[in-house]
Amino acid sequence: MAVPLVEKAHQKIAAYLQEADHAVDATMGNGYDTVFLAENVGQHGKVYAFDLQSAALTATDARLKDKGLSERVNLIQDNHKNLASYLANNKIESVRCIVFNLGYLPGSDKTIQTSPQTTVQALNSALLSLQKPGIISVLAYTGHIGGRQEAEAVKVWAKALDKQHYRVTIDVPPLVKQSPPELILVESI
Ligand SMILES: C[S@@+](CC[C@H](N)C(=O)[O-])C[C@H]1O[C@@H](n2cnc3c(N)ncnc32)[C@H](O)[C@@H]1O
Repeated sequence: MAVPLVEKAHQKIAAYLQEADHAVDATMGNGYDTVFLAENVGQHGKVYAFDLQSAALTATDARLKDKGLSERVNLIQDNHKNLASYLANNKIESVRCIVFNLGYLPGSDKTIQTSPQTTVQALNSALLSLQKPGIISVLAYTGHIGGRQEAEAVKVWAKALDKQHYRVTIDVPPLVKQSPPELILVESI
C-alpha cells in the first residue's frame, strides 16, 4: 500500500533532524506536525510554530502539554510570512527544517486558509532561514477552493530555485482520486 504523503514528509524530515536542532512549523493547526518536530529535535532543540488563529495555539498547547513537550516549543500567533524576521529578532541564525501543511484548520473557520501569495512570501522567508543541509516540506491539498492554484504557485516557486543549491522533489500519490495532495520538498545542498 502507498505510504501517505504526510508520513513520507515525516520520514524525510526525520532523516534531517538531529538532537538540539531548531525547526519551524509554519502552519501549526492542531499541532500534529509541531509534536512530531518537538519529538525529533530532542530536549535541547527548539520548535517555532506559527498560526494566525488562537484556536490553533490552544489546541497545540494542549497536545504538547499532554506529551510533556511544551518546553521545546514556542507558539507564535503570527503570519508565517514573518518567520525570518521572528527568528532574526530572537537571534536564531538558521533552522534545519521548515514544515508547511497548507489549507485550513480542520473543524474551524474554513475562510482562514493559506493563500498562494502569502505562502510564496513565507517560502521566500523560509529560504532565508534554512540551514545547509536542511529541508522545507510543503504538503499542498488541492480539493478545496484555491488549493489547486496554491499548489501550482508553490511548484512554480520551487522549480525556479537554483539547482546548484536546492534539490526539489514533487510527489503526487499514484491511483488517487481527482484532487490528490502534493508533497513538494526543497533540500538545501
Ligand atoms: C491544514 S492546517 C495545518 C495542520 C497542522 N500542520 C496540524 O498538524 O494539525 C493549516 C493551518 O494554517 C493556518 N494558516 C493559514 N494561513 C496562515 C498564515 N498566513 N500564517 C500562519 N498560519 C496560517 C491555518 O489557520 C491552519 O490552522
